[in-house]
Amino acid sequence: MILSEPKASLEKDASTLYAYKKQLDASFVWGVSASAYQTEGAYNIDGKGPSIWDTFTNENKNKIKDRKNANIACDFYSRYEDDLKLMQSLGINHFRFSISWSRILPSGTGEINPAGIAFYDRLIDTCLRYGITPWVTLYHWDLPQALEKRGGWTNREVVNWFTGYVAICVKHFGDRVQHWMVMNEPMVFVGAGYFLGLHAPGRRGMKNFLPAIHHAVLSMCEGARAIKSIYPNATVGTTFSCSHIEPYRNIEKDHLAAYKVDALLNRMFIEPTLGMGYPIDTLKPLQNIHQYILPGDEYKMKYDFDFIGVQNYTREFVKHSWFTPYLNARLITAPNRKVPHTLMNWEVYPESIYHMIRKFDAYPGIKKILITENGAAFEDTHHESLISDHLRTTYLQDHIEQVLRARAEGSKVDGYFVWTWTDNFEWAEGYHPRFGLIYTDFKNQNRIVKESGLWYGSFIRE
Ligand code: BGC
Repeated sequence: MILSEPKASLEKDASTLYAYKKQLDASFVWGVSASAYQTEGAYNIDGKGPSIWDTFTNENKNKIKDRKNANIACDFYSRYEDDLKLMQSLGINHFRFSISWSRILPSGTGEINPAGIAFYDRLIDTCLRYGITPWVTLYHWDLPQALEKRGGWTNREVVNWFTGYVAICVKHFGDRVQHWMVMNEPMVFVGAGYFLGLHAPGRRGMKNFLPAIHHAVLSMCEGARAIKSIYPNATVGTTFSCSHIEPYRNIEKDHLAAYKVDALLNRMFIEPTLGMGYPIDTLKPLQNIHQYILPGDEYKMKYDFDFIGVQNYTREFVKHSWFTPYLNARLITAPNRKVPHTLMNWEVYPESIYHMIRKFDAYPGIKKILITENGAAFEDTHHESLISDHLRTTYLQDHIEQVLRARAEGSKVDGYFVWTWTDNFEWAEGYHPRFGLIYTDFKNQNRIVKESGLWYGSFIRE
């Protein structure tokens, strides 16, 4: 059998993608994304306090695949310089990462940990030394455990705790960081962490979900105001998860179910910030959120972000279901629909990202969109020192093409970040699904560039 032959036939025709790329000017941002808990490790080193993810993974082992945790993860805490050097060698010069709140403030409020500040100083300075622009997310799901003990996102005080933490970060790093994202995907950490109990801190039910939604919205907007009050010229965004939603069958009940799921997954967090309020007309069970909305909140829950980060991986099909409380809707998974999917069981459907850009772009008041995450987990194949992952390369090519198509049609999309830089800890899924452009050997922390990483580097350098 000739091993090289299928490769040629697997190569997709990327001429449209390259033609779109030629139309771009140099200001289009190409980068990679990662987060603190998923990569840093050093979970109890140099004065860091525990976060809800440290507690959740170490105390509720059965909630995580193979009972894993991110105590060590990619050891980015000590290997960041080599990782940045590798990034530079591929020609990637925008890096989105997050700050661990409990590394800066071990108890969430109060005393600052100087070693935590020093770590992010080193990281930011090293980025700049290698010509890499830092894009900093202030909250990627790792609330200090000390604050969870005080009610976490269900306690309205969290708005003050959060803005206090944001102000510390911005005062220390704002002289070198221009681009900030207040939060990563509030719908996911609130939904999975405070309604379904699948993510940290493992809480469930409407009594946790509703206050957590409202306090996350307030924190997102008040956090943004805190940044601007210190550095008025900072570029301030926040990121949203989203999926293109379709009814499973062309019948009224499924259309209604799809409409509700769209409100829940795609509209819940963006609409209040735009001054449109929560989508309560579509999602009646949300109406009890009113008890958490205090006079004056209608102003505090709005903010005119400089950009929004859109994070999309797939689309969802929705079917009516009597058995799902509140929503009467359920998702029909990709394996059940027998369509191509990733190791996360997410359908590979590149047009989804196009539809999501168009959808967000259509809201009045959105100034600019960046794709702050998109990527895929597939099985990687090792051929000696080469790691071939043509499915990931094709996934990226097809999705980037759709992003640039939306832009060519007039959408305000100005950048794209791959999720993710190195294989890392994938939350409740442990280490099995690998999303990286760089392979991480978790036994010895060696890094190997995958074919997708080589391709992405060459594509953006071109
Ligand atoms: C999150 C990442 C996560 C990725 C893949 C996003 O929801 O921001 O932390 O690893 O999707 O699941």
